[in-house]
Amino acid sequence: MATRKIAVIVGSLRKESWNRKVGKALIMLAPPTLEMEIVEIGQLAMYNQDDDDAPPATYTEFREKLKQYHGVLFCTPEYNRSIPAVLKNAIDVGSRPYGQSAWSGKPCAVISASPGAIGGFGANHHLRQCLVFLNMPAMQQPEAYLGKIDTCFDGDQVSDEKTRAFLQKFIDTFAAWVERNAD
Ligand code: FNR
Repeated sequence: MATRKIAVIVGSLRKESWNRKVGKALIMLAPPTLEMEIVEIGQLAMYNQDDDDAPPATYTEFREKLKQYHGVLFCTPEYNRSIPAVLKNAIDVGSRPYGQSAWSGKPCAVISASPGAIGGFGANHHLRQCLVFLNMPAMQQPEAYLGKIDTCFDGDQVSDEKTRAFLQKFIDTFAAWVERNAD
């Protein structure tokens, strides 16, 4: 199997973000066919369509970088039952200029995590609405809403065995999904 490059997009800027820990754990658990790394989004100014003719360098770098990946893994918190603005902003920046979206066609998966009981279900599904328009084949199963995430880690290590086993299954299934759907 070919090695596939995967951009991990974390929808939180918080230093001790649970979702960043989840992303890092998935990078560690990934099979050798996936070469995964976090692509930062906090440097992107709020998208303004007026800038399309002369985009900031951070936009151009982000768009060009994204194009180097075969697939995308989104790790998102839930803010007010939706995705954080920083993640939506990154999605919007990557989707332009019109007709040149850096996201288009890339297979992806969504995992949401929250200290709350329902694991960011609302954010997970709001994000999926965007993925339809972005033309990104999104893995359907296993669904991944990680609740009570604050009880699952010891430092950066996944200490909860059930969560670790689930993450392993999730990333192995994603590897197969990418293999089936990547260009
Ligand atoms: C939250 N949080 C939250 N949690 C949740 O399960 N559902 C929600 O709708 C919200 N809404 C919300 C709004 C805002 C503005 C903040 C700052 C927080 C709590 C959230 O899950 C918690 O802060 C997580 O720790 C955020 O994820 P990271 O940063 O740890 O990855």
